[in-house]
Parts: sequence; C-alpha cells; structure tokens
Amino acid sequence: MSLQRQAWQAHAFAWASGLVQCLQRATQALTPPPFRLMQFGSAFWQSRALYVATQLDLASVLGDGRLLPAELAQRVGADAEALARLVRLLAAIGIFEVDRQGRIGNNRASQPLRGDHPQCVRHMVLMHNSPGMSRPWFETLEAGVRQGRVPFELCHGHDLLTQLNQQPDQDALFAQAMDEVEALGGDSFATAFNWRAFDRLIDVGGNRGAKAATILRRHPHLQALVVDRAQVVAQAQAAGGHQGLQFEVGDVLAGPLPAARSDRDAYLLSAVLHGFDDDSCVQALGRVRQAVGQSGASIVLLELIVPEHNADLASANFDVQMYMATRGRERTRTQWQALIERSGLRWTETVALASLGSMLVLRSPH
Ligand SMILES: C[S@@+](CC[C@H](N)C(=O)[O-])C[C@H]1O[C@@H](n2cnc3c(N)ncnc32)[C@H](O)[C@@H]1O
Repeated sequence: MSLQRQAWQAHAFAWASGLVQCLQRATQALTPPPFRLMQFGSAFWQSRALYVATQLDLASVLGDGRLLPAELAQRVGADAEALARLVRLLAAIGIFEVDRQGRIGNNRASQPLRGDHPQCVRHMVLMHNSPGMSRPWFETLEAGVRQGRVPFELCHGHDLLTQLNQQPDQDALFAQAMDEVEALGGDSFATAFNWRAFDRLIDVGGNRGAKAATILRRHPHLQALVVDRAQVVAQAQAAGGHQGLQFEVGDVLAGPLPAARSDRDAYLLSAVLHGFDDDSCVQALGRVRQAVGQSGASIVLLELIVPEHNADLASANFDVQMYMATRGRERTRTQWQALIERSGLRWTETVALASLGSMLVLRSPH
C-alpha cells in the first residue's frame, strides 16, 4: 500500500516551484549580461551584509518597532553611520525597510531573522557565514576544483565532522541551524508520509531531534529514537531534549544501530547520505540493513533528487555546498538507484513532498 499522503499538495508545490523558476529566468533574461555577471560577481557583498546584520541581531532588537540609526546603533553596539549604510544596502534588496524619517524597521523578509519568529532562520545564516564554513568558499574552492579535492579539507586540514567534534561551539551552531531547517521546507515530511503505518521511528543522524519531534507532534502514537554522534546527543540531552524522544549514541558508518523489532519500525535517514561519498553510503545502508534484519522494517531516505538535466538552482546550490564541505553530493534518480542497488536494497516508492526533498522508501529483501 502506498505511503503517499496529500499528493495534490506536493504536485501544487512542484507546479508553483516550476512557475517561480520560469519567472526568475524571465526576469534574469531582461537584465543585460554584463550587469547580471556583475550582480553575481558581487553577490557576496550582500551576503556578508546580511551576515553582519544577523550577527548584530538587528531584527530581534527592532522587533515590531522602528528605530533611528543612532538608536539602533546604540542598542547593538555599532557606529550609526556605518550601520545606516549597511541597512540601506539590505533594504535595497528587500530586507528591512527604512521610512521617510530614516527609521529602520523589520519587513516581511527580515522577520524570520528574529529570534522569536516561528520560522526563524537566524542560525542558518550565521552557520553558513561562520568563518569555519565560509573560509573554504573564499580560500580553497579554486584549488579544490583544480585538484578535485574537498575545499573544506584543503582549508582546515581535516574534514567537517572532525571539526564539529573538535569545536563544540561550531557543532552547537550547526545543530541550531539544523533545528531551523523546517522553516525552509515546512513539515510535509510529517504530513505527506503515512506515519500511521508505523509504530516506531528510528531517526539515524537525527541531530537534536527536531524532525523526529515534529513527526511526533503530528503522530503522537509513535515511539521515536534519535541516533547521532556522542557530542550531539549530549547537547540534545543538556537542552532537555524534546518530549517523548529517546536518544542513543551511534555511528552509522561503524557501530551497530538499534535493531528493528517489527515491520512497523521505520529507519529515517534525513540529509545524512548527501554528506557521504558513494562507498560510505553503501557502508551506512549496510549498517541499517543489518539492523533491519528479517523484520521487514522500512528504510526511508529524506533527500533531494536532482533533475537529470537542467537542475534547479536549489539543487545545484546544495550540491556545490556539499562538494565544498564534504565528500558527498546531491544525487540524481539514476545515482540514487545505482547506490541503492549496490546496497542490496529495493527502492519501492518515492513519496513526493511539498518541499524540495522527497522520501525514498527502501526495503531489504528477506
Ligand atoms: C545535515 S545533518 C541532518 C540532520 C537531520 N537529520 C535533519 O534532517 O535536519 C547530518 C546529521 O548526520 C549526523 N552524522 C554524520 N555522520 C554520522 C555518523 N557517522 N553516524 C551518526 N550520525 C552522523 C550529523 O551529526 C548530523 O546530525
């Protein structure tokens, strides 16, 4: 029986995304190529301005009010004139607004930078622009592309997970950013997938449990076990965890994973395999397959499926970010199929979501 629910919403999302893409391409086509190239060639100015505004937490300080640059600068510890110029750039790209009296306020686009906003993406902006994550983009991307090596490793001398394990502050920022992913994609992974067909969710690489908690809120009958690195589990537990979630330390590449109890168990791997090269994916899926054993439990991958041709900007963007930071990649249907076959699993269904990702349902042949 199909695990797809709310198929029309997923179709509507796909249709709307296609339309937005067409409109974006049409507007871009109206801009003369030299301007377009210069826009992209200097886009990091805007990105860095947004980062500094986010570091200063302007959106939270402004809240629902409006402040003159001098008042805002005093509250955030900045120079009034420099701050006004920074905000003028951001207002020109539609983030924050400045009224005729020169007072700065939040607008629709800046609201999600507020710490109290339900769709806050503040930590995501901070994480991507943090020195650890942004330096490879500036310093070693060219060398990486020339040599076919990972820019992050060239820059830092070790891989991303080693860095996160060694730098708890950066790991905590990464985890806070992961908590905010839902603000981008919504919760259709909880509503468009038939979780009623299961009693237990084992969220492998589930970080601090944000996704599992969302699924549990929609499907309180489920038990949920989140498996991740020791440091992440310790952070989740120190933060008080989420009600109803259990945590367990585990390594999807090395150690055994919690064993399945029945065919009403579902192993979720969300945005985990895109961080691994193909051999590591096969290794990880082999571990999950071992945990599934003869139970008939399902394995569910929540990942992007990149179009074979004419990839959309989001997929291509994430793919280069994965190249920059890891040995992983975003994969096409053909690449997923090859990987799943190599792992000795069967890809039985793709559940479409009203977001960028899809849920790939895999089963282990008994
Ligand atoms: C990109 S995050 C995705 C987090 C979460 N699943 C989500 O979708 O928001 C990747 C997660 O995989 C975890 N991870 C990476 N390598 C792992 C390993 N070998 N064993 C267990 N977890 C791992 C990371 O700690 C991190 O929480």
